[in-house]
Amino acid sequence: MKLDVLLGLQWGDEGKGKVVDFLTPHYDVVARFQGGPNAGHSLEFNGIKHVLHTIPSGIFHPEKINIIGNGVVIDPIVFKKEIEALNDRKTDLQNLFISRKAHLILPTHRLLDAASEASMGKSKIGSTLKGIGPTYRDKTGRNGLRVGDTFMPDFRARYQKLVDEHLKQLQLYDYQSDYRTEEKEWFAAIDLLKRFTAVDSEYLINRYLSENKSILAEGAQGTMLDIDFGSYPFVTSSNTVCAGACTGLGVPPSRIGEVFGIVKAYCTRVGSGPFPTELFDETGEQLRRKGGEFGATTGRPRRCGWLDLPALKYSIMINGATALIMTKADVLSGFSTVKICTHYKINGQLTDQIPFDVNTDITPVYKEMSGWGSDISHHSTYDDLPTELKDYLSFIEQETGVPFKIISVSPAREKTIIR
Ligand code: GDP
Ligand code: IMO
Ligand code: MG
Repeated sequence: MKLDVLLGLQWGDEGKGKVVDFLTPHYDVVARFQGGPNAGHSLEFNGIKHVLHTIPSGIFHPEKINIIGNGVVIDPIVFKKEIEALNDRKTDLQNLFISRKAHLILPTHRLLDAASEASMGKSKIGSTLKGIGPTYRDKTGRNGLRVGDTFMPDFRARYQKLVDEHLKQLQLYDYQSDYRTEEKEWFAAIDLLKRFTAVDSEYLINRYLSENKSILAEGAQGTMLDIDFGSYPFVTSSNTVCAGACTGLGVPPSRIGEVFGIVKAYCTRVGSGPFPTELFDETGEQLRRKGGEFGATTGRPRRCGWLDLPALKYSIMINGATALIMTKADVLSGFSTVKICTHYKINGQLTDQIPFDVNTDITPVYKEMSGWGSDISHHSTYDDLPTELKDYLSFIEQETGVPFKIISVSPAREKTIIR
């Protein structure tokens, strides 16, 4: 059996949570492979919206196994809040497993994130301030604390050693903040975390594959936020691309099956960094309003713009996407025309490649297409969709060479069309 991967092809918030929840019935296992509580994955069924940050989006299907993989960074405090929200909804959490190798976000990691951002002024990354960067930095610096360490007798001492190191760094930033109250909360949350089954998830996942169990790996963020391939330094600190599923779960590349790439019908971005098709006018405002484009984690307004084909082609190339999924085409309903950026103009030259320098002055070159006037959220088959939308999808397919297999037409679970 192979492991399928579902990931974002833009700057995050493509609708991964909704589609993973929709696809979960087709799988035995859902596993998160990177990122942490910087993610906000929304899903909706029976008229209720849920937002998940650390827990895989398959959790509302009690018979399925959900795994938080080694590539994820966990903030026990956020995790506890998520668990409490799920308990309130009487969700069965028996089948939630956590990798012993997943790294822990400490309260001081969050302070370091805030201190670093504050020190950068206008050039800040616009991070979610969840401590993601400092935690991955400790992971690669080989100082990190992992879920498995919480069971060791010297855990407190190792925690204190790392905190002492963080306090020295905070002093350099001249950043004062009391972390002691949070520390108590953090240790209480560690106690809760330890009640879940900690696993060697690489063994477990590979065993499941050899037992012919089907697994869906759920990405967080998006390809354009990848630490290697995104618009560095305006990126997150993990590999959000398909290769991240291998390192974040311990699955060999030869075991990767379908790679589902999610594309929002337009683009959004939260935080700083280049966004060639960003709209600063009424159209951008309309996209934000109609699309409810406010961060699921931070509540920040998302920057909005037209679909960016050079970025999309790049993401498809890096991930080897085998199928595309479009979300939020319903948000574009009512626009008389819609635009797709096919090329960038840089120094008077047309290109469809992403430049190395994030400060490059890019003028997007657009193809304008007819919009689809009607509400599409009641459609349940591909054939029923308006011709103009089908033309929009076909154009993207021709340009990228990858077919759309799923079209989502509303936040609700059931409003999803399989082609
Ligand atoms: P994720 O981070 O990729 O899981 O995406 P988010 O949950 O942060 O943001 C996507 C938002 O769009 C959420 O509010 C979803 O409920 C919503 N959404 C997902 N698919 C659709 C869709 O097809 N149409 C509309 N209108 N909203 C959608
Ligand atoms: P989901 O999984 C959108 C952005 C932040 C910032 C940059 C670095 O919901 O799609 P970080 O806190 O990771 O150090 O921030 O990355 N970012 C996201 N943007 N969706 C996300 O996750 C994001 N996670 C991080 O806004 O620009
Ligand atoms: Mg999100």
